[in-house]
Amino acid sequence: MRRPMVAGNWKMNGTRAEAGALTRAVAQGVDAAKQTEVLLCPPFILIPLVADLLQGGKIAWGGQDLNVHAAGAHTGEVSGPMLRDFGCRYVIVGHSERRALYGESDQLVALKFKAAQGAGLIPILCVGETLAEREANQTEKVVARQLDAVTNLVGIGALANSVLAYEPVWAIGTGKTATPQQAQDVHRFIRTKLAALDNGIAAGLRILYGGSVKGGNAAELFGQADIDGGLIGGASLNADEFLTICRAGG
Ligand code: 13P
Repeated sequence: MRRPMVAGNWKMNGTRAEAGALTRAVAQGVDAAKQTEVLLCPPFILIPLVADLLQGGKIAWGGQDLNVHAAGAHTGEVSGPMLRDFGCRYVIVGHSERRALYGESDQLVALKFKAAQGAGLIPILCVGETLAEREANQTEKVVARQLDAVTNLVGIGALANSVLAYEPVWAIGTGKTATPQQAQDVHRFIRTKLAALDNGIAAGLRILYGGSVKGGNAAELFGQADIDGGLIGGASLNADEFLTICRAGG
């Protein structure tokens, strides 16, 4: 059985006061009896604050990105070992905003995946197509290319210790959610593709959906056979909304 997961990606949002209030409210509201794994990914600079508040509790925290190098002359960057040092368990790699706005190639994302595992972090690998790619019927081709870059570099075995997130770019922050069936179709495609390499790993791999998930649509999305939870942007900035989504995870 795959343990459901709901991860909040705060993106570049939050003052210390806002981050503190949000973290406290989520920690208080999360139901310890539920099996869903809950994760918060704040901006780097807020990680120490969030880590202090979540220390010893059941909610994990992680980074939104990392550099491929462990240390050195990379002004402005943050490494995997630094994230581990602050207790991060997970790190997002290949978010579509990193790919589109900061020019991250499939190859760089694969190197980040490898660097994350090398630092003892569990990578959450994001894949997904743009609207133009979907309209040109390129969804599976794009997602396959993004996955191949990683499996070619690290091998299918490395995916056993990772999480995937399907985030159609056209659904991110737009209020346009993929229908549960559209999302399920891509999740199924991903699992089937990876099953050709290793059936057991594909069966155990958690594949999250991200893109305008809200309290009102989470349960139906998470109810799909191959959707194991969500990667939540905007709605993770509101404690009540985020907690509703967490409860929909099961
Ligand atoms: P929204 O939930 O704001 O659409 O963002 C999704 C996302 O990019 C999470 O990583």
